Amino acid sequence: MRLAKYMALAGIASRRGAEDIIRQGRVTVNGETRSLPQEKVEPGDVVAVDGKIIDAAQPLIYILLNKPPGYISTVADTHGRPTVMDLVKDVPERLYPVGRLDADTRGLILLTNDGRLAHRLMHPRYGIEKTYRATVKGIPDRQTLEQLKNGVLIEGGKTAPAALRIVKAHPDRNETVLELTLTEGRKRQVKLMCAAVGHPVRELSRIKFAGLALKRLPEGQFRHLTEDEVARLHKLAWS
Ligand code: URA
Repeated sequence: MRLAKYMALAGIASRRGAEDIIRQGRVTVNGETRSLPQEKVEPGDVVAVDGKIIDAAQPLIYILLNKPPGYISTVADTHGRPTVMDLVKDVPERLYPVGRLDADTRGLILLTNDGRLAHRLMHPRYGIEKTYRATVKGIPDRQTLEQLKNGVLIEGGKTAPAALRIVKAHPDRNETVLELTLTEGRKRQVKLMCAAVGHPVRELSRIKFAGLALKRLPEGQFRHLTEDEVARLHKLAWS
């Protein structure tokens, strides 16, 4: 089998992406670097990418879930509450959530058994973008919006610059829908930021993560990422 196909089956990247990784000299077969895209592997060969052994027989799984409120984003809950794992019961692989959403937050969360990628997507050093829709109490003025954009003092220090836009103001209900894009992933960050400027969050959902969007995926449903989407995530995390 071609080495690039083997890597694609193991969920490392698309075949094209795998050929790039091979050309970069990051792949070894039985301990020897193989840098030509047409390289082949035989049954029993040990293939490693960046020094880590990969296995096409144990594919890496990448799932995008639209989390409903009321589910917690851990593998198991000590209080017996429903978890995001209950929503992907039919997937036989052991998966883990990439980062967390509060129990009452809805929206996009990734689940995977690819620990290396998950680590990079969560680590603040890699600045992965997360976009939230927050319905907040009140109508924030220009100065408050600037504060949210430039950084707000919350537990653990001032927040990093964020992108922000008003989706809609509802003066009748005394609330505003904001769209915030953060590159950090601090615990309860959106709620803490909005509360700190006097506009507590009434409802929160995550609509984008690392360039992936929820689009029309119904709440409580999941889908597997496409090969291209997985390749894009790898590119983002290793660029
Ligand atoms: N920020 C929050 O406050 N809660 C979440 O669930 C995610 C981001």
